[in-house]
Amino acid sequence: MREGIQTTGIAIIYASSFGGHVAETAKYMAKELDADIFDLKKQTKINMTSYNRVIIGTGIHAGKPFGKVVSFVKDNKAVLDDKKTSLFICCMYMGDKGDAQCEKVSKDLGIPDAAYFPDKGETDENGVKKGVVSFIQRMKA
Ligand SMILES: Cc1cc2nc3c(=O)[nH]c(=O)nc-3n(C[C@H](O)[C@H](O)[C@H](O)COP(=O)(O)O)c2cc1C
Repeated sequence: MREGIQTTGIAIIYASSFGGHVAETAKYMAKELDADIFDLKKQTKINMTSYNRVIIGTGIHAGKPFGKVVSFVKDNKAVLDDKKTSLFICCMYMGDKGDAQCEKVSKDLGIPDAAYFPDKGETDENGVKKGVVSFIQRMKA
Protein backbone atom coordinates (compact mmCIF):
# COMPACT_ATOMS: atom_id res chain seq x y z
CA MET A 1 0.00 0.00 0.00
CA ARG A 2 1.18 3.47 -0.81
CA GLU A 3 -0.07 6.45 1.04
CA GLY A 4 0.25 10.19 0.67
CA ILE A 5 1.71 12.17 -2.17
CA GLN A 6 3.60 10.02 -4.67
CA THR A 7 6.67 11.57 -6.14
CA THR A 8 8.06 9.33 -8.80
CA GLY A 9 8.50 11.47 -11.89
CA ILE A 10 11.51 13.16 -13.43
CA ALA A 11 11.59 16.84 -14.38
CA ILE A 12 14.17 18.22 -16.79
CA ILE A 13 14.56 21.95 -16.39
CA TYR A 14 16.89 23.75 -18.75
CA ALA A 15 18.06 26.93 -20.40
CA SER A 16 19.60 26.87 -23.85
CA SER A 17 21.09 29.61 -25.99
CA PHE A 18 21.51 30.08 -29.74
CA GLY A 19 23.60 26.91 -30.13
CA GLY A 20 20.62 24.78 -29.11
CA HIS A 21 22.80 22.02 -27.65
CA VAL A 22 21.18 22.13 -24.22
CA ALA A 23 17.65 22.11 -25.67
CA GLU A 24 18.47 19.22 -27.95
CA THR A 25 20.07 17.20 -25.14
CA ALA A 26 17.22 17.95 -22.72
CA LYS A 27 14.61 16.85 -25.27
CA TYR A 28 16.49 13.64 -26.02
CA MET A 29 16.75 12.85 -22.30
CA ALA A 30 13.05 13.63 -21.77
CA LYS A 31 12.14 11.14 -24.48
CA GLU A 32 14.42 8.42 -23.14
CA LEU A 33 13.41 8.95 -19.51
CA ASP A 34 9.73 9.69 -20.13
CA ALA A 35 10.32 12.89 -18.19
CA ASP A 36 8.54 16.24 -18.14
CA ILE A 37 10.53 19.07 -19.64
CA PHE A 38 10.58 22.79 -18.82
CA ASP A 39 12.32 25.55 -20.75
CA LEU A 40 13.32 28.34 -18.35
CA LYS A 41 13.06 30.82 -21.22
CA LYS A 42 9.32 30.16 -21.32
CA GLN A 43 8.60 29.40 -17.67
CA THR A 44 10.47 30.19 -14.48
CA LYS A 45 7.88 29.10 -11.89
CA ILE A 46 7.74 25.31 -11.80
CA ASN A 47 5.87 23.15 -9.30
CA MET A 48 8.24 20.29 -8.57
CA THR A 49 6.04 18.50 -6.00
CA SER A 50 5.37 15.41 -8.09
CA TYR A 51 8.99 14.76 -9.02
CA ASN A 52 11.54 12.84 -7.02
CA ARG A 53 14.30 13.57 -9.50
CA VAL A 54 15.16 16.89 -11.11
CA ILE A 55 17.70 17.31 -13.88
CA ILE A 56 18.99 20.82 -14.50
CA GLY A 57 20.62 21.62 -17.86
CA THR A 58 22.72 24.63 -18.81
CA GLY A 59 25.36 25.86 -21.22
CA ILE A 60 28.37 27.95 -20.27
CA HIS A 61 29.21 31.45 -21.42
CA ALA A 62 32.54 32.87 -20.26
CA GLY A 63 32.87 30.29 -17.51
CA LYS A 64 29.40 30.87 -16.09
CA PRO A 65 26.18 28.82 -16.32
CA PHE A 66 23.24 30.58 -17.99
CA GLY A 67 21.60 33.27 -15.86
CA LYS A 68 18.13 31.73 -15.90
CA VAL A 69 19.57 28.52 -14.43
CA VAL A 70 21.51 30.39 -11.76
CA SER A 71 18.34 32.28 -10.70
CA PHE A 72 16.14 29.19 -10.78
CA VAL A 73 18.52 27.13 -8.67
CA LYS A 74 18.95 29.99 -6.19
CA ASP A 75 15.20 30.63 -5.90
CA ASN A 76 14.39 26.91 -5.44
CA LYS A 77 17.34 25.79 -3.37
CA ALA A 78 15.32 24.24 -0.52
CA VAL A 79 13.13 22.20 -2.88
CA LEU A 80 16.05 21.05 -5.01
CA ASP A 81 18.06 20.01 -1.95
CA ASP A 82 15.13 17.78 -0.99
CA LYS A 83 15.13 15.90 -4.33
CA LYS A 84 17.59 13.79 -6.25
CA THR A 85 18.99 16.68 -8.25
CA SER A 86 21.55 16.35 -11.03
CA LEU A 87 23.17 18.83 -13.36
CA PHE A 88 24.23 18.52 -16.97
CA ILE A 89 26.34 21.06 -18.76
CA CYS A 90 26.83 21.56 -22.50
CA CYS A 91 30.09 23.36 -23.16
CA MET A 92 33.08 23.53 -25.46
CA TYR A 93 35.84 22.66 -23.00
CA MET A 94 36.85 19.03 -22.62
CA GLY A 95 39.59 17.09 -20.85
CA ASP A 96 41.18 18.64 -17.75
CA LYS A 97 39.78 22.08 -18.55
CA GLY A 98 36.29 20.65 -18.97
CA ASP A 99 36.59 18.64 -15.73
CA ALA A 100 37.73 21.69 -13.77
CA GLN A 101 35.00 23.90 -15.23
CA CYS A 102 32.31 21.29 -14.48
CA GLU A 103 33.54 20.95 -10.91
CA LYS A 104 33.47 24.71 -10.38
CA VAL A 105 30.03 25.23 -11.90
CA SER A 106 28.62 22.28 -9.94
CA LYS A 107 30.05 23.69 -6.72
CA ASP A 108 28.84 27.24 -7.43
CA LEU A 109 25.30 25.99 -8.16
CA GLY A 110 25.37 23.66 -5.16
CA ILE A 111 24.54 20.55 -7.25
CA PRO A 112 27.25 17.97 -6.53
CA ASP A 113 26.00 15.39 -9.04
CA ALA A 114 27.11 16.87 -12.36
CA ALA A 115 28.20 15.75 -15.83
CA TYR A 116 29.24 17.71 -18.89
CA PHE A 117 28.90 17.03 -22.58
CA PRO A 118 31.35 18.83 -24.85
CA ASP A 119 29.85 20.14 -28.12
CA LYS A 120 32.52 18.20 -30.00
CA GLY A 121 32.54 15.15 -27.73
CA GLU A 122 32.61 11.59 -28.96
CA THR A 123 29.29 10.27 -30.29
CA ASP A 124 27.95 6.76 -30.72
CA GLU A 125 26.67 5.23 -33.96
CA ASN A 126 23.36 7.06 -33.52
CA GLY A 127 25.04 10.44 -33.20
CA VAL A 128 24.28 10.63 -29.47
CA LYS A 129 27.06 11.87 -27.21
CA LYS A 130 28.51 8.98 -25.24
CA GLY A 131 28.30 10.81 -21.93
CA VAL A 132 24.61 11.46 -22.50
CA VAL A 133 23.83 7.75 -22.82
CA SER A 134 25.54 6.83 -19.55
CA PHE A 135 24.00 9.85 -17.79
CA ILE A 136 20.53 8.68 -18.83
CA GLN A 137 21.26 5.16 -17.58
CA ARG A 138 22.29 6.59 -14.24
CA MET A 139 19.12 8.69 -14.02
CA LYS A 140 17.02 5.53 -14.47
CA ALA A 141 18.54 3.91 -11.40
C1 LIG B 1 29.90 33.67 -26.17
C2 LIG B 1 30.18 32.24 -25.79
C3 LIG B 1 30.98 31.97 -24.70
C4 LIG B 1 31.25 30.64 -24.34
N1 LIG B 1 32.05 30.39 -23.23
C5 LIG B 1 32.33 29.10 -22.91
C6 LIG B 1 33.14 28.81 -21.77
O1 LIG B 1 33.60 29.68 -21.03
N2 LIG B 1 33.40 27.50 -21.52
C7 LIG B 1 32.94 26.47 -22.29
O2 LIG B 1 33.25 25.31 -22.02
N3 LIG B 1 32.13 26.72 -23.35
C8 LIG B 1 31.81 28.00 -23.67
N4 LIG B 1 30.99 28.24 -24.75
C9 LIG B 1 30.37 27.11 -25.47
C10 LIG B 1 28.92 26.87 -25.02
O3 LIG B 1 28.82 26.72 -23.62
C11 LIG B 1 28.37 25.61 -25.67
O4 LIG B 1 28.37 25.81 -27.08
C12 LIG B 1 26.98 25.20 -25.19
O5 LIG B 1 26.61 24.02 -25.87
C13 LIG B 1 26.00 26.33 -25.39
O6 LIG B 1 24.68 25.92 -25.12
P1 LIG B 1 23.54 26.08 -26.25
O7 LIG B 1 24.04 25.35 -27.46
O8 LIG B 1 22.32 25.48 -25.68
O9 LIG B 1 23.42 27.54 -26.54
C14 LIG B 1 30.73 29.57 -25.12
C15 LIG B 1 29.92 29.86 -26.23
C16 LIG B 1 29.65 31.17 -26.58
C17 LIG B 1 28.79 31.45 -27.78
